[in-house]
Amino acid sequence: MRSAKDFFEPLAMGAPQPVREIPFRPSRMIHFFPPSNQKMVAKVPEIAPKVDVLLGNLEDGVPASDKEAARAGLVHVGQTVDMGDTQLWTRVNSLDSPWFLDDICTLVAEIGHKLDVIMIPKVEGPEDIHYVDRLLAQLEAKAKLSTPLLVHAILETARGVANVEEICGASPRMQGLSLGPADLAANRRMKTTRVGGGHPDYLVRNDPAVGEDGKPDITGPRATSQQDLWHYTIARMVDACGTYGILPYYGPFGDITDTVACEDQFRNAYLLGCVGAWSLHPVQIDIARRVFSPTPEAVARAQRVIDAMGDGTGAVMLDGKMEDDASVKQCHVVVGLARDLAARDPELAKAYGFAESS
Ligand code: GLV
Ligand code: MG
Repeated sequence: MRSAKDFFEPLAMGAPQPVREIPFRPSRMIHFFPPSNQKMVAKVPEIAPKVDVLLGNLEDGVPASDKEAARAGLVHVGQTVDMGDTQLWTRVNSLDSPWFLDDICTLVAEIGHKLDVIMIPKVEGPEDIHYVDRLLAQLEAKAKLSTPLLVHAILETARGVANVEEICGASPRMQGLSLGPADLAANRRMKTTRVGGGHPDYLVRNDPAVGEDGKPDITGPRATSQQDLWHYTIARMVDACGTYGILPYYGPFGDITDTVACEDQFRNAYLLGCVGAWSLHPVQIDIARRVFSPTPEAVARAQRVIDAMGDGTGAVMLDGKMEDDASVKQCHVVVGLARDLAARDPELAKAYGFAESS
């Protein structure tokens, strides 16, 4: 076992000091692009200012024949595109693939100073994070980086979910977790064939009405309601992230045409505590921005409660609702998030009425 005193010591000679806290940076949408696709790469300068995070994807979705081109394409983007205050992330290939080692060695050496977060797919336990942690420290030392790269794990195996708390606590580099519903469904042997979202067969049915014979009429019309396949996993993820001071995200929603259901899934995740989601297509960028930013009405209402609560203790009645020490804390979460987002998004600042004061 490692001494707690050493936890924040660099894992390699000359590597930067590990971070003690994960700074909150707006990351409502993690926008995926395939760096092997020249047309997409050409659009990066235009898309970068519109998103919180731009992610060069090297893993699933990139054919084996394009893996090296994707890596080179991302290096090119990192070396040539001015990202402004948009974060640049990557999703490297999984630890058991033949590409991971070259991905990480090349990226840290060539564009380590431009990358903010490295997403590691199919993380199964803390041992995966320990491996990446040490390797990154060695590569950072070699590249003479002054700040450590952060690590984000995708939760997409049953074992990963079972070990979620240990994964979150495995390194000071851990920045967050994303749900990987497609791989997770396959690994769990769920009988779905979708990327995220619900399923019409996963439902509950109202009790039957009583028939003329006084018995329950099980064949009569009965309303059903589709349930959320991902509720359990997201809730576990949110608690694990909260425990370790890192950030939870919904992952991909694959039905690009169903913008309504996408918005519903994102909103459920937002309400449960997630800070963002992946966007796989430009239409999902605006959905994520809308969903993961509190509404001006919610912010105004939260501010009223904060103002009415004075020193934050006791209880007040506002519009017929009881507010107290606990509800004012929720209001601080909403207003705090609004302030963090507004600092980077002038339109939002205006909508919240923060423009003059902040
Ligand atoms: C994402 O990587 C997923 O498997 O859903
Ligand atoms: Mg996956």
